Amino acid sequence: MNRLFFACIALFGLCQFLVLPASFAEPFRMGVANASFQVEGHPADSDWYRWTHTSGKIQDGSNADLATDFWNRYEEDFKLARSLGANTFRISIAWERIEPSPGAFNLEALAHYAKMIASMRAYRLEPIVTLHHFVLPAWLAAEGGLLSPRFPEAFARYSALVVSKLARAPLSVKLWMTLNEPNIEIQSGYVEGSWPPGMKSPRAALKAYGALAVAHIEATRAIRALGIPGVRIGFAHHWRPFYPLTSSRADAKASQVADDFFNQQFVRALMTGKIRFSIPFLGRVSRDVPLPSGKPTLDYLGLNYYGRSLVQVKLRWPFLSFLSGNGPKSDLGWEVFAPGLYDSLVSASKYGLPLIVSENGIADRDDKLRARFIEEHLQQILKAKKAGIPVMGYLHWSLTDNFEWAMGLSPRFGLVRIDYATQRRIPRPSFSRFREMIGVWGKALSR
Ligand code: GCO
Repeated sequence: MNRLFFACIALFGLCQFLVLPASFAEPFRMGVANASFQVEGHPADSDWYRWTHTSGKIQDGSNADLATDFWNRYEEDFKLARSLGANTFRISIAWERIEPSPGAFNLEALAHYAKMIASMRAYRLEPIVTLHHFVLPAWLAAEGGLLSPRFPEAFARYSALVVSKLARAPLSVKLWMTLNEPNIEIQSGYVEGSWPPGMKSPRAALKAYGALAVAHIEATRAIRALGIPGVRIGFAHHWRPFYPLTSSRADAKASQVADDFFNQQFVRALMTGKIRFSIPFLGRVSRDVPLPSGKPTLDYLGLNYYGRSLVQVKLRWPFLSFLSGNGPKSDLGWEVFAPGLYDSLVSASKYGLPLIVSENGIADRDDKLRARFIEEHLQQILKAKKAGIPVMGYLHWSLTDNFEWAMGLSPRFGLVRIDYATQRRIPRPSFSRFREMIGVWGKALSR
């Protein structure tokens, strides 16, 4: 009887191990994130390269020509990440380096990334690799960028090439992210016009947003067709909770609409193949794309969390305001609001996917808020895990200072300060505070 009882328990345990999402079987991923254009330096020709060399586009007049020279100094940064106690490092691949002209692939550049990942492995860091973090090769931008009819297919072909080289042993990159923040990419590039291609057209924005969804689905089809075991595909979504400013029904309704447009519609499209993007009064996109083998195209979901918006309906154009609350502010005036991370994780958990906080960080030159900021956000993750939400990791943005898009080199997001004149890496006090937290929280969160 006893033996039968224990055999049953063992069998039950084994079944759980086999069927539970992989996040449960792995250690909690603690680490850092960056993106190629923001750190590598020595850029290839791209829409962003040209944007940074067009006068007036970058607020502080800087560019990313050297950035943090990560292209040459990656090893030093992996060493720093290891000394931080991190077990994971998220990077991105520069499509413009790999495919400098249509269909002509630069295998040397790919070999350089292979070396970078081998070095990451040598420092016992698990790589997470993003395939498109805002930047497009110049040739693609010239033919319409995201709006070019060949964008999705070209992205799928490039993605499959990169995955085929880096996902197999010995590099064995398993965690892939097709896209980074498609909602921010279209908001900044197609609505506000502050990023390339500098358009201010909600109609074009919706079309470009649809194209990003198709590109993700086609890339997933191409990657899965490679049949490499263990490869998992996700994307990093800028997730922002929207709360009504007042208790009016109008503010509540507007918050729901904003949440649906900004947070939910893209994820739904990738889960179902039904692309239904709409901005009330401004337009819609409706398109059905068959899913590869009929399965949702996400194995996990990344959340980049930076803060919340308070929503107010007004009687005057543009009828809506998105405000920040009165919590402490970063150097960029972004409000710190950690409870919004818990709410975001709860909201995103409806898709039944393992979640990872793929970015979270603060521009804080004097390092006054950063350590507390991290701790408060880790607390929210622990709360989410206790509520049964499968959060598999926390990646801080960023290990080092870097090039913050239209704001240039001035904002300082690093645990490590970069002295741009010498490229010296100087850890800020929050670096050692985060190291202590990784020791304590890493264990608590792995349970
Ligand atoms: C984004 C990106 C990062 C940023 C970071 C700080 O959100 O724009 O993913 O590239 O640098 O979020 O703003």
